[in-house]
Amino acid sequence: MITGMFYVTTWPSEHPPSKEEIVEMAADCQGLITLLSDTIDADMITNLPNLKVITQYAVGYDNIDVKEATRRGIIVTNTPGVLTETTADLTWSLIMATARRIVEADRYIRKGNWNVAWGPQLLLGADIYDATLGIIGMGRIGKAVARRAQGFNMRVLFHSRSHNESIAALEELVGAQSTSLDTLLRESDIVSLHVPLTSATIHLIGEKELGIMKKGSILVNTSRGQVVDQDALYRALTSGHLGGAGLDVFTEEPIPKDSPLIGLPNVVLVPHIGSASKNTRATMATMCAKNIIAALNGERPPNIVNPEVL
Ligand code: GLV
Ligand code: GLV
Repeated sequence: MITGMFYVTTWPSEHPPSKEEIVEMAADCQGLITLLSDTIDADMITNLPNLKVITQYAVGYDNIDVKEATRRGIIVTNTPGVLTETTADLTWSLIMATARRIVEADRYIRKGNWNVAWGPQLLLGADIYDATLGIIGMGRIGKAVARRAQGFNMRVLFHSRSHNESIAALEELVGAQSTSLDTLLRESDIVSLHVPLTSATIHLIGEKELGIMKKGSILVNTSRGQVVDQDALYRALTSGHLGGAGLDVFTEEPIPKDSPLIGLPNVVLVPHIGSASKNTRATMATMCAKNIIAALNGERPPNIVNPEVL
């Protein structure tokens, strides 16, 4: 397809292309728009010699070897900001669905199990209001999640390794208290993850961390699956230590159909839909277009991840 400015080819399937298919299709391309299911590693970058810009249709870009791209003078862009509120909404959907057992309750009716009008013990869950929420990672999305917690009169703790403000300014801004990771895990009724996936955050929540969490507490993950040791999470859920989990992301996506997590009633599972509102996905698309057009025209793209390349 020829647009006003460029020759454009699009991968026609919902299924991600294999590495070979990307190389075949993009071998001559100067710009590449990628999804987080496309692995753009050093090998791939070597195989795309004309590449000037990689435009990621997501805020996270752990599927791209940015270091290698930078070394080769290739610009990388992402879609920050526009999906913050939408992802915070989804995080809250998971918090509420998990705490109040919404999905289980829906299944209960559909299976024809609602036979007694009102049961004092029926589907009892956990309170959200007045509870303690622990937010790990206080970037844009963490802040948006914290802001929503005020409506529930929650005590909010957070643990954040990187932020632009001083801790005192950040505490003031989000109405929350900064703590060590251990304190956060020990005191929170609900723990929500908002860190990017990096070498420092792989399995940030493992056996030990899950063990420190309060008995009956809830873990919510809308960041990246690999931030949690999923096998350890499964054990913590089946042993009865954790009360439940709300998961948008998984170690392997799509989650294998025989994953034991699928059999657990106290887990709410959604298929990586954090940013999936009609508005936000459209805005992300426009943002990608602006980024790739700017880069190919030799201008500074608005959302550059590796500005040192310029
Ligand atoms: C989605 O996971 C994103 O990083 O935008
Ligand atoms: C992502 O946009 C974040 O900073 O949390």
